Amino acid sequence: MNVTVSKAPKTTTHILFVDTNEAINIADFEGKKETVAVRYEGDKTLIYAGMGDKRSCSLSIIRGVAAKAVKTAAGLKRTKVALLEPTLPEGDDTATRACLEGAILGSYIFDKYRSEKSDRLKSIEVVSTRMKRTEAQAIAQVCECVGYVRDLVNDNASVVNPQYLAKEARKLSRSSKRIATTILDEKELRDKGLGLLSAVGQGSPYPPRLIIMEYRGNARNKETSAIVGKGITFDSGGQDLKARGHIETMRTDMAGAGAVLGIMKALTLLQPSVNVIGVVTAAHNAIDGTSYFPGDIYRAYNGKTVEIANTDAEGRLALADALSYLQKHYKPSKIIDLATLTGGVLSALGSTVAAVISNSDALADSLFAVGERTGERLWRLPLYEEHSDSLKSEFADLRNTSTFKRGHASTITAAAFIKEFIGDLPWAHLDIAGTAFNQGEARGEIPKNATGFGVRLVYEYLVGSGR
Ligand code: BES
Ligand code: ZN
Ligand code: ZN
Repeated sequence: MNVTVSKAPKTTTHILFVDTNEAINIADFEGKKETVAVRYEGDKTLIYAGMGDKRSCSLSIIRGVAAKAVKTAAGLKRTKVALLEPTLPEGDDTATRACLEGAILGSYIFDKYRSEKSDRLKSIEVVSTRMKRTEAQAIAQVCECVGYVRDLVNDNASVVNPQYLAKEARKLSRSSKRIATTILDEKELRDKGLGLLSAVGQGSPYPPRLIIMEYRGNARNKETSAIVGKGITFDSGGQDLKARGHIETMRTDMAGAGAVLGIMKALTLLQPSVNVIGVVTAAHNAIDGTSYFPGDIYRAYNGKTVEIANTDAEGRLALADALSYLQKHYKPSKIIDLATLTGGVLSALGSTVAAVISNSDALADSLFAVGERTGERLWRLPLYEEHSDSLKSEFADLRNTSTFKRGHASTITAAAFIKEFIGDLPWAHLDIAGTAFNQGEARGEIPKNATGFGVRLVYEYLVGSGR
């Protein structure tokens, strides 16, 4: 997307934000929130975006209606629009920011496999007195990274396999001097003792990879945050094969890994002065004669033995080894992991809120607050001793599923398993199984299918914008 900033519109298709009061002057349009109307005036096309009552209009309403408005523009085959910045009672530029985000995020289309391509918006002219060009372009770049993640998650499992994720990481390190990539292949994973990640990937012709990307934006600062993404490029469930109705979308089980790649890409593009290590733990959980079996015991990288109670609880295994390896060799100061880890999070929080589970109140609170701003909402779940106790195994140090009744607190016990591989440092686990992939209709800036959840949230958290 080409994004420019001007003081007066040069483009003839305008998107104008109006509240219920301002709409009084527009025939047959009440300005209700999230509604859109098109009117013509001379050579101009005016697309009105309803904000509802201005006093209760939020950034998320603006983001959502901006997305609707650009879809309307694209439907009218417009390739350029002028976005006339909305104003909110606060009078700052966050509303301008939200409308630009909504416009870019809302114009995402996945048409790689369609013979007939969709009409696309190509450029946005932000008409603003408050926003600078560099700021608008920075917002655009982060939103484009969300689009990049959506593409990765939507694409075929046979295309986006562990090797492909590794290739994407290598591409990033070629594009910027500030990022260095290390990739462990299946032989190195075995030789070094990452027995859990190796086991998850062993039944597939697409072997596992551990991908580590080091972004150094501030050599003087010793603080290094780590972000770790679950990259199961297809989760068949393995020998505990998933049933019809559950298996169809499992190419998206790498959405956490996608988010990590997207965040690292945003870092290379915008070069903020922070240090971030991005880790992708990638494997294809396949069913095959060479797959790992339920009842088997494997040794983790940190030496603990794990009884495989269920081969479909594979994400936590892949994450466990990645986390131990990361802490031993890279010594980060804190860790955030993103994972489509449990179906249970959908029962608990639905498809609009992700779960955060953390050993640090400060980290959980900050992430929550950022999510409220970016519209990627989080809700914290607890993790108590009984959850950890439920992972005791008769024959091994741990089992990979709890001994609770089926489905009971599954999101929490999955996090409890991961916690066994976290040392004494702040850690937050984001279960994005409900929010990474939208099986319903588009909701504002959130499209159907892959959503790119977590990219803006974690990027904002890491880089902190002072807003
Ligand atoms: N990848 C799934 C979780 C998932 C479910 C992601 C729905 C997206 C949508 C995960 O690997 C899994 O299978 N989890 C099991 C764990 C169970 C076997 C303890 C689950 O949540 O049912
Ligand atoms: Zn699974
Ligand atoms: Zn999975």
